[in-house]
Amino acid sequence: MPRLAVLIVAAGKGERSGLSRPKQYEYLAGTPMLRRTVEAFRSHPVQVVIGPGQEDLAAAALAGLALPAPVPGGATRQESVRLGLEALAAGPDGPPDFVLIHDAARPFVSAGTIAAVAQALEKGARGALPMLAVADTLRRRESAGWSTVARDNLFRAQTPQGFAFGDILAAHRAHAGTAVTDDMALAELAGIAVEHVEGDERNLKLTTKEDFVLANALLSTGETRTAMGYDAHRFTEGDHVWLCGIQVPHDHGLLGHSDADAGLHALTDALLGCIGAGDIGQHFPPTDERWKGASSDKFLAHAASLIAEKGGQVIHCDVTLICERPKVGPYRQAMRARIAEILGLDIDRVSVKATTTEGMGYTGRREGLAAQAVATVRLPA
Ligand code: CTP
Ligand code: MG
Repeated sequence: MPRLAVLIVAAGKGERSGLSRPKQYEYLAGTPMLRRTVEAFRSHPVQVVIGPGQEDLAAAALAGLALPAPVPGGATRQESVRLGLEALAAGPDGPPDFVLIHDAARPFVSAGTIAAVAQALEKGARGALPMLAVADTLRRRESAGWSTVARDNLFRAQTPQGFAFGDILAAHRAHAGTAVTDDMALAELAGIAVEHVEGDERNLKLTTKEDFVLANALLSTGETRTAMGYDAHRFTEGDHVWLCGIQVPHDHGLLGHSDADAGLHALTDALLGCIGAGDIGQHFPPTDERWKGASSDKFLAHAASLIAEKGGQVIHCDVTLICERPKVGPYRQAMRARIAEILGLDIDRVSVKATTTEGMGYTGRREGLAAQAVATVRLPA
């Protein structure tokens, strides 16, 4: 089986967007653009290239995705690609056979486009890219005035652009001094024959603020679903409990096969409920030794990945912890931040609340604690 790697370049500053952060970290319907782009390639190994000083933004945007550390990019896209290719060549698995090079700024790339480029390479093409015919007539400004450029035979090049790895690395090394705007231009300089596959109008490159308005409008189609989850655990001997991914000192522990984090368990069930995917016990059976003492962030990340596989996004979640003790208030912000990190959400889309039951019932008698959660997910039409 030939090995295919994906290089996603995200080292730009996004200056034309006029946004307050580099555009690849901007949220689109609750999820950073870079995370959406990476998730579009989820069945392939992905290497991300980021700009200097973007380490924290990238870590937050890509939390929980189990990617190799991002590679630092350069001053131009071309340089960023070359540095990414060099990192792939020197990586632990050695150079791949093929590489797909893609802009972080194209989060709507479809599985069909990715497969078409990959298949062209597997069938022997040395380079392949998606292209679309130009629909508008073009006008060119010249020193003497304007002229019309007939649109016949004009096409728009998109990414991912795929190559035999050795060819494109050699082209980048040989032509580092010639400025080009995409890898195909470089491939042509190096005499690599390229094939064309059908492009996709939805595979927009987000450049201006208006493009972000359009992208959010595209994402608002589809359906919204809400589901709830509930969990309870009994107190046992111990000196801390895990709640919503945070270790909280307490005069008891919680009894459970995993870390007994009722908050994350309730939330995991709520997410699974949104896609009709059963409950946490089906995915992580308590009889399975692998989950003994497991940290529950894994369960939550798994539920989120099932939603992402369907092209959906979590847009909001709300957890209520029900206990007399420990006091939740001092940890509430840390809990929200941890859930936001696991799910790759802005913190204002995550709510953590707490209540006692005024001494009534099993939580009132301090036999244990309970949690309930509600999650809202948007799924594509
Ligand atoms: N890119 C990069 N390294 C650079 C410049 C760009 O990795 N030095 C990446 C961008 O992050 C983006 C892709 O190349 O994913 C396409 O570039 P573009 O859309 O021009 O993004 P920016 O350069 O960030 O935006 P702008 O030109 O408006 O500043
Ligand atoms: Mg640019």
